[in-house]
Amino acid sequence: MPILIDGKIVSTQIKNELKQKTESLFQDKGIIPGLALMLVGDDPASKIYVSSKEKACAEIGFKSIVKRVPADTPESDVLKQIDEWNQDSSIHGILVQAPLPKHIDSNKVIMRIRPDKDVDGFHPENMGRLVIGLPGFLSCTPAGIMELLKRYEIDTQGKHTVVLGRSNIVGKPIANLLYQKNKYANSIVTICHTGTKDFAYYTKQADILIAAMGVPELIKAEHVKEGVVIIDVGINRVEDPSNPKGYRLTGDVDFNSVYEKAQAITPVPGGVGPMTIAMLLQNTYFSAAGLVKF
Ligand SMILES: NC(=O)c1ccc[n+]([C@@H]2O[C@H](COP(=O)([O-])OP(=O)(O)OC[C@H]3O[C@@H](n4cnc5c(N)ncnc54)[C@H](OP(=O)(O)O)[C@@H]3O)[C@@H](O)[C@H]2O)c1
Repeated sequence: MPILIDGKIVSTQIKNELKQKTESLFQDKGIIPGLALMLVGDDPASKIYVSSKEKACAEIGFKSIVKRVPADTPESDVLKQIDEWNQDSSIHGILVQAPLPKHIDSNKVIMRIRPDKDVDGFHPENMGRLVIGLPGFLSCTPAGIMELLKRYEIDTQGKHTVVLGRSNIVGKPIANLLYQKNKYANSIVTICHTGTKDFAYYTKQADILIAAMGVPELIKAEHVKEGVVIIDVGINRVEDPSNPKGYRLTGDVDFNSVYEKAQAITPVPGGVGPMTIAMLLQNTYFSAAGLVKF
């Protein structure tokens, strides 16, 4: 039976730990971690993500500010709001929910956030720090994956890790984290993408397989070897008339197909997903407590 890597349990542990640390931070220094969130437009998934983040802040004793603005808000207004939060000493983390409407340049928005308040870890300074192994804010989904590997004592040393996907928010940062020379990484990393002619050639060699493509259940038993550790980052909606909602959420991995071969595996939902918010809260706490030195 493979080990089920349970992101719900780990994220709850992390949130409980953060709640206690937040109380101590207030008692010792009078600081309440503050997270500012901006939602541009009314994308249904983004609305849910922002509300979940707001709720999670309240649960652990953070202050949160949520600015919800219409989809036709000019880019200059978004940048102006970021400038205000950059100057506000009660705000320790700033997040502008992606995706943004087409008329707003998301790179401009990311680069406007002060790197020491960039708790999403998307600013080039934080990405650069990640690559060269300096302290900084790690982007939340890759940080969540690292935390799961660590807490489930998955040995990454000298292992072949195959990452499927090269996005700036998942594939590139997780690949870079896993080849760093430290106890919890030191992997040999291969990255596959749509330019990879035969990805099965690589996935069959993987000791650790990280799937972040956004293609529902693409990875089947024939793509993996016995004893593989599978981290499924994909969150895909597929039609399901048997579900009252008319759809179900599934990963990039066909869980039932690979289950017997895996040594350990994350489910979807309940694997990597819950870790992303936990890491956002952790980054905001680190920022408030001054634990990341720039
Ligand atoms: N759990 C979480 O909290 C969390 C967080 C973020 C994302 N996600 C989920 O993770 C998935 C990926 O998200 P993302 O933002 O990284 O996606 P993305 O920006 O769309 O990137 C997808 C990557 O996968 C590659 N790819 C797509 N189809 C492929 C195929 N058939 N074979 C090989 N490579 C393929 C693409 O290659 P090219 O570069 O060549 O186009 C690209 O690099 C989505 O399902 C998303 O919902 C989950």
